Amino acid sequence: MVTVVSHPLVQHKLSLMRDTQTGVKEFRELASEVSLLLAYEAMRDLEIGPVRLSTPLETAEFPMLSGKKLALVAILRAGLIMTDAIVTLVPAAKVGHIGLYRDPQTLKPVAYYNKLPADIAERRVFLTDPMLATGGSASAAIQFLKDAGAQSIKLMSILAAPEGVAVIEKEHPDVEIVVAAIDRELNDHGYIVPGLGDAGDRIYGTK
Ligand code: URA
Repeated sequence: MVTVVSHPLVQHKLSLMRDTQTGVKEFRELASEVSLLLAYEAMRDLEIGPVRLSTPLETAEFPMLSGKKLALVAILRAGLIMTDAIVTLVPAAKVGHIGLYRDPQTLKPVAYYNKLPADIAERRVFLTDPMLATGGSASAAIQFLKDAGAQSIKLMSILAAPEGVAVIEKEHPDVEIVVAAIDRELNDHGYIVPGLGDAGDRIYGTK
């Protein structure tokens, strides 16, 4: 299942991210803001339950988060900007990292780094990768999380290609995808078109 967050603020900020005139500082800020807005939607179904507490005026029951604890997992490196932003909303969440590279022979993603919370199986996992392009890395990361015991996973991306969405829907139909937009296509170099370019380069000012 895919949720496209069509809120005007998200769409406006995403358009600014696409613009080649947008520099590193602003791009980073926009990526963080869009991530927060995506998280707002992705976390809409978090469980809440009544907790008894006292305001200065009376004691009563009020809703607080009550379900499984959360884990945010970034696919390196561009996913970091998203987890860094989202952890400000859910400061008790644990944060994991998965680094993948594409094997030049097999063209398959291989994990070169991973560090996940030990209790990942007991947590709701929000996996972040700003660009869901071919879907290869995201699918491998999801499989990696499942192999580590994760049972509840949502994938959060700022921008997706239809090809990437199709891969995740086929290989991981249990994983909900939350995105700001699904663009037209992937080009021959694996870039999302019209897209916003290389998200990692634009976040970190590299080329
Ligand atoms: N990764 C990016 O950063 N941009 C794309 O367009 C595709 C993959």
